Amino acid sequence: MAAYHAKLSAFGSSVPKKIVNNFDLEKIVDTSDEWIRTRTGMFERHHATADEAASDFAHEAAVRAIESSQVRYKDIDMIIVATVTGDYPFPSTSCVIQRKLGLKGVPAFDVSAGCAGFIYAIHTAKSFVESGAARNVLVLGVEMLTKITNWNDRGTCVLFGDGAGATIVSRANPGDISRIIDSLVEADGSQGDLLYQAAGGSRMPASHESVSKNLHTIYMEGNKIFKNAIKSMQASSEALLKRNKMETEDVDWIVPHQANLRIIEGLASRMKVPMNKVIVNIEKYGNTSSATIPIAMDEAVRSKKIRRGDIVLLTSFGAGLTWGSVLARY
Ligand code: ACO
Repeated sequence: MAAYHAKLSAFGSSVPKKIVNNFDLEKIVDTSDEWIRTRTGMFERHHATADEAASDFAHEAAVRAIESSQVRYKDIDMIIVATVTGDYPFPSTSCVIQRKLGLKGVPAFDVSAGCAGFIYAIHTAKSFVESGAARNVLVLGVEMLTKITNWNDRGTCVLFGDGAGATIVSRANPGDISRIIDSLVEADGSQGDLLYQAAGGSRMPASHESVSKNLHTIYMEGNKIFKNAIKSMQASSEALLKRNKMETEDVDWIVPHQANLRIIEGLASRMKVPMNKVIVNIEKYGNTSSATIPIAMDEAVRSKKIRRGDIVLLTSFGAGLTWGSVLARY
């Protein structure tokens, strides 16, 4: 039994100003607007410029989430950032954000779980809040995947965008209708080589050769990832509903990772959920990895599509392989 309940307090997001659409991509790689739209559902995405980095957008997203919540800066007692493209290999991007927010002393750490990072970070924050070890955990998903994109690989370079999203996982007060009902995270390291960045770590540190061979960029076997993504998100969503004695009809909104519209539609169809109950914004942002879900939540909450008391199911899948879901009454 948890000592307390945790809830999702508020959301905030931030994306770079620079927008790159499918026609812009036609000029740099052998692709077409038609292929990208029909195979992925994407039309435009935001790209960070050379002098912009993860913490710039994460900081802005954090400020927006805090200002939309009842939580004061001084009441934040932990920062967790989900990212694989932080400002530096070290220190953690959460420490950079802690400095920008002026929250000296507050514990801060990063979580690496690819596109499922935000779900992993919520799962972690929820445990701290439920045990009483923290009261308000600032949770961020931020990714600058265009900084590790291989611009010669048309199978990946059209997919990614940059951005950040934030929420605060807070202790629910008695009488609050909002609460995180349950969360589930899983991984399968045996398939890690389907989606990875070969160079830049201790296995293959940066060298002239690694750079000239483009090994610091994303390698992905898209087709295999595609099938895994649908299966895993469906299994985890259904397991979470089942162990809470809930049906898909009890869910008001599914907020899935935005990697490919066909993945989202495949998931909805297998779960027998109509697409008008699924939040989709992939046409505007592409795949921002760990930031897709908090950006989608922020937009849906601000546009009053998602309202207090709605049951939301967040689900994601990414490098690792990792996947997981969060079931919450917002
Ligand atoms: N423009 C035009 N043609 C292209 C492009 C492009 N941008 N990219 C690939 N093609 C071609 C291929 O060369 C291939 O041509 P061929 O048949 O002549 O060989 C054809 O299109 C089909 O290629 P596939 O790879 O089979 O295309 P698919 O329908 O699988 O779509 C995609 C590719 C979009 C990558 C899809 O597989 C996908 O979305 N995968 C999942 C991505 C994902 O979920 N990633 C997880 C998170 S990412 C993270 O964690 C960082």
